[in-house]
Parts: sequence; structure tokens; C-alpha cells
Amino acid sequence: MPSRPQTPRFTDLAALRAQVALWRASGARVVLVPTMGALHRGHLALIAHARTLGERVVASIFVNPTQFGPGEDFARYPRDAAADLALLAQTGTDAAWMPEAATMYPPGFSTRIAVGGLADGLCGPFRPGHFSGVATVVVKLLNQVGPDVAVFGEKDFQQLRVIQQAAADLDHAVVIRGGPTVREADGLALSSRNRYLEPAEREVAPRLHAVLSQVAAEALAGAATAPVIARGLAALEAAGFAVQYLAVCDAGTLAPVARVAGPARVLAAAHLGRTRLIDNVAV
Ligand code: PAF
Repeated sequence: MPSRPQTPRFTDLAALRAQVALWRASGARVVLVPTMGALHRGHLALIAHARTLGERVVASIFVNPTQFGPGEDFARYPRDAAADLALLAQTGTDAAWMPEAATMYPPGFSTRIAVGGLADGLCGPFRPGHFSGVATVVVKLLNQVGPDVAVFGEKDFQQLRVIQQAAADLDHAVVIRGGPTVREADGLALSSRNRYLEPAEREVAPRLHAVLSQVAAEALAGAATAPVIARGLAALEAAGFAVQYLAVCDAGTLAPVARVAGPARVLAAAHLGRTRLIDNVAV
């Protein structure tokens, strides 16, 4: 059986731009899937989705230091370029953009995108500076690759909305699309951080999705959200989660809603031991 061609790996920005320019000149639409590596089936689903949106798919892999706070897991965040490239080859990804930190943040780098509104609630207070770091690196990636479309996972729903808003506010021509969350059979949303879970924590982790689904069902049935959220919080704490937030929000503004009257999301962040999990479900 013929082996799959390797995904070309770019670490030089000029070379990447030259390649993208060639594709564009031939009329191809270019789709970017930004990642921090440690790729799993969730990323592969985003790449498969990207493939439906354009003729050329670029995946970026960069563990972005500016979106991690002090005491967060930047140092231990999983990094395995060889495994990532092997997975990208399976998907037929056309290019892997894998910049060095010095390419992204050379000496003298001093610009950051300030984000407000959508970034202020939910994860915002628990991760000061996080969404500013995300927006900064994503806008850089968009400017570097110059895609027609960029695809982000709905698993990080607040991130997706913040990026959509930043791209619109800064008049970026790119179209930002979300890709659905991929889950284990027991409901746990795939995440590169799931590998931090101890076996006993892994057993408990799917409760997060179960509780979010229950809250969503009750909110959809017309219940006032406050008591539903209170019951969900109690269920999560009883299962061993240290909950940062559990909220029912308008899917567009991310403002909390007292009763669901349009597209909404149930979102939560909680620690299980040392692992911070986030998840959300549509209402
Ligand atoms: O979701 C991620 O993996 C990261 O936040 C992103 C969008 C690649 C920016 O570093």
C-alpha cells in the first residue's frame, strides 16, 4: 500500500507565504485550522470540516505563551511534533505552519489586542489576559497565513465568539467558522488536557457533560435558569468538581439569561484535581 505523503512543515514565514500565494494564484480557497498541537480526533474533525470549506488546508501548531497565566500549564502542555505531523499526514493536510516562539514574538514585540465584552465573563475572570493572548496570536496567524476561512472548535465556545468578534472589529476579511465538539463514548469532550486526568478523575469527568446536558434540557423546557443552575452546581460539586462557573448564556452575546428565549449555551469550567475542564452544550 502506498504510504501517505508527509504534510510539508513550514517554520519560515516567507516560505509559507510563497506557498499560500501559489495556491491562491491557482484559485484555491485556503482554510486555516489553528491549534496548539497534541492533536486528537477533535482536531482531525476540524480539519475534515476545513476540507469542506476550501481546497487547501493549513494547520498551525504553536503553544502560545501569551495565553497562559502564571501557574497555568504552559510548561507541561503536551508537545509531540512527530505524532502531530503523522496525524496531519493521515488527514491530507496541505501544510503545517509550526513557527518558533522567536518568529511569533521576536525581541521588541510589544503589541497586544485588548478584548472586552465577550471576554469579560465566564473564563475571563479566572484567566486574566487569556483571551487577549488568544486574540493576539490568532490575528497574527491570520495575517501570516492569509486564509479565506479559519476553523475553531465549539468546545472553546467563548474563545470562538471572542475570535469572531475580534475579526469583525478589526475588519479582517477572513470568515471564522466553528466546528462541533467531538466526545468520547461516555460524553467527555476531547481535549489535549484530558491526558492530565488521573484514572479515578477520568471516571468522573463525563459527569460534566451529563450535568450540562441536564441543565440544557431543563432550560429548553422553559424552566427559570437560576434553580436549574443551582442543582447542576450541587451535582458537580458532589461528584468532586471544583466549579468555577456554570451558566446559561445567550449564544451570541454570552450574557446570562434568566429563561431561554432564543439560541443559548450552557457553559461550565471546573477543576478535577489539577485538571481544568471546560465544556458547553447548545440549548
Ligand atoms: O484553541 C487553541 O488551541 C488555542 O487557543 C488557539 C486558538 C490555537 C490559539 O493559540
